[in-house]
Amino acid sequence: MIMSEIKIACIGCGGIAGGYGQEPGGHLKNLKKIEGVSIRGLVDINIESARRRFTQFGGEYYTDDVQKVMKDHEVDAVLICTHHDSHASLIIQAAQAGKHVFVEKPMAMTIQECDEIEKVVKKAGIKLQVGFRLRFAPIVREVKKRIEHPLVIVGQVMESPWEDHLWAQHPVKGGGNVLSQGCHNFDLVCWLNGSQPESIFAHGGTLTHKDTDIIDNVVATIRFKNGSIGCVIQGDAGPSGYTSKFFFEVFGGDKTATLYDRCTKANLRGLDKERLIIDDLSEADQGDPEGTIEELRSFIRIIRDDSPSPCGVEDGKLATVLIHKAFESIATGKLQKISV
Ligand SMILES: NC(=O)c1ccc[n+]([C@@H]2O[C@H](COP(=O)([O-])OP(=O)(O)OC[C@H]3O[C@@H](n4cnc5c(N)ncnc54)[C@H](O)[C@@H]3O)[C@@H](O)[C@H]2O)c1
Repeated sequence: MIMSEIKIACIGCGGIAGGYGQEPGGHLKNLKKIEGVSIRGLVDINIESARRRFTQFGGEYYTDDVQKVMKDHEVDAVLICTHHDSHASLIIQAAQAGKHVFVEKPMAMTIQECDEIEKVVKKAGIKLQVGFRLRFAPIVREVKKRIEHPLVIVGQVMESPWEDHLWAQHPVKGGGNVLSQGCHNFDLVCWLNGSQPESIFAHGGTLTHKDTDIIDNVVATIRFKNGSIGCVIQGDAGPSGYTSKFFFEVFGGDKTATLYDRCTKANLRGLDKERLIIDDLSEADQGDPEGTIEELRSFIRIIRDDSPSPCGVEDGKLATVLIHKAFESIATGKLQKISV
């Protein structure tokens, strides 16, 4: 059946859903830029947050009862923008109700949750896309196109020590910096590489939040099935003023790409067919530098075209598996095999 209009409900009406400041922003603002989509329900356990987004973005209703959306036959798809501890159960409920799912990262906090999601989503036959927005940033895509077979990739997502009271630092709600944001890093290193990881070794520890038992900083090395290698540096050990928080370097033998400024800029240096190249790739389309509109366009497209998700359950699971295997490597001092 061709859907004339795709009706969306947003679950979790905080910063990523509607913007972090006073000005409207986030996914709800971006949805308004996409044709053939309408906002139907806005849900938050804090009814005031749902009401605020309803006032800013419209829709048919707002509620603090997620079951209203799950039972609403008019809702085709949900955006899950809640804290990490509710992602798995909301995905499962939505899939069982036959709704397509866009879920913010990380898809889930544990490997067991990922396995359960995999089973339920497959059975339900719905589309699921994880919010790995960096894959949709135009400059990142340009780098992937220019270096198809990287030999070594370094991913660094590093920032100033998080405040202890931040929800993402909470062991249950968020899981700490590595689970929260490391998933972007592990995912991008794997996606740029284009091959499956076969093993991981990591050092790390509780370096910045001494009164918790959360591993907050990690340096991990990954070996891929095609023989290439990657290094993931993740944490909140200090500001990255020079490179920016999101910094990736892709070494392709005869040329190297450096992504910086939150992956909105890049340059490429080296040899191309013996020609010296020093290209500033930052000229690529800057209309959507962080890829946040394109990731939603992609979600709508896979629903309409019944096409495969560009970052589906397997990718969400791989990122979570790599993080837990890194933790296991830190605990045991041993290399961990990856089989996903
Ligand atoms: N892709 C990115 O670059 C990026 C950037 C920022 C945040 N995020 C992700 O977005 C998600 C939300 O982060 P945020 O910064 O918007 O947090 P936030 O605290 O601003 O908003 C989360 C909202 O979810 C609500 N909520 C919590 N549990 C709920 C439940 N069970 N049902 C309904 N509502 C619930 C809270 O009341 C809150 O309003 C997280 O997964 C986070 O990692 C992604």
